[in-house]
Amino acid sequence: MRIDLSGKTALVTGASRGIGEAIARRLAECGAYVLCAARSVQRVEEIAAELTNAGHRATGVQLDITGDDVRERIKALLEQQPIDILVNNAGVTEDDLFLRMKPEAWTAVLRTNLDSAFHISQEVVKKMIRARWGRIINISSVVGLMGNPGQTNYAASKAGIIGFTKALALEIGSRNVTVNAIAPGFIQTAMTVSLADESRKTLEGRIALKRLGVPDDVAYAAVFLASEQAGYITGTVLNVSGGLYT
Ligand SMILES: NC(=O)c1ccc[n+]([C@@H]2O[C@H](COP(=O)([O-])OP(=O)(O)OC[C@H]3O[C@@H](n4cnc5c(N)ncnc54)[C@H](OP(=O)(O)O)[C@@H]3O)[C@@H](O)[C@H]2O)c1
Repeated sequence: MRIDLSGKTALVTGASRGIGEAIARRLAECGAYVLCAARSVQRVEEIAAELTNAGHRATGVQLDITGDDVRERIKALLEQQPIDILVNNAGVTEDDLFLRMKPEAWTAVLRTNLDSAFHISQEVVKKMIRARWGRIINISSVVGLMGNPGQTNYAASKAGIIGFTKALALEIGSRNVTVNAIAPGFIQTAMTVSLADESRKTLEGRIALKRLGVPDDVAYAAVFLASEQAGYITGTVLNVSGGLYT
């Protein structure tokens, strides 16, 4: 079996580093034309140029998913090409203990991690439905399933993404558009770099596979969910957590 995404266009948010960058790279290697989106335009343009030089197809797109113009920007992209595969990946943390959490930290995390998926997906889904083919992959987190102290805002956003995934999957399954979530565990990226050595060791002890994940661990799961071969899978949450949460 070979995953062939040629002829498909993918939009990956948060493609400037970490998990989003890995997903963009692997989708492009499987033949998709990839729109690599993030605020750091220079970085996504570098990634797209590297992919293009390697014989793949990609473009860097500057996109702030919390911008008031996000729907207009997505509409403009859709006028240039269809989007067959949407990966809602961009996300942020603003951790604090609940009693200390500022309303701004709550709102910022919900706006980036959850509201953006609503706005972007609503624009993209219209065309997927017309095309009778589409894949939406939402990057949640095991924290949305198991909770984590200091992350009430982040956990709420990631649990929200799971509810969103399941409800949308039921609404648009009859149009051959699948909607799935991936729940990564602890993956080595800028988001987890601040973990002190001691907490990293404790954490690794809780993971069945005894190591933190790498971005490609998540990217391979995303590529599979984007494939033709995953066409009978919808409304699921795929844990990529090394057994941290089962
Ligand atoms: N790392 C983990 O352990 C882990 C575990 C579970 C789930 N996740 C989830 O996986 C996803 C990726 O995480 P990561 O670890 O790869 O994080 P990361 O290295 O911090 O990367 C986050 C990405 O999101 C983009 N982004 C943030 N705010 C944005 C905005 N307003 N508009 C557009 N892009 C924005 C960033 O790009 P710019 O700054 O260039 O805009 C960057 O590309 C997130 O949804 C995260 O919650 C991560």
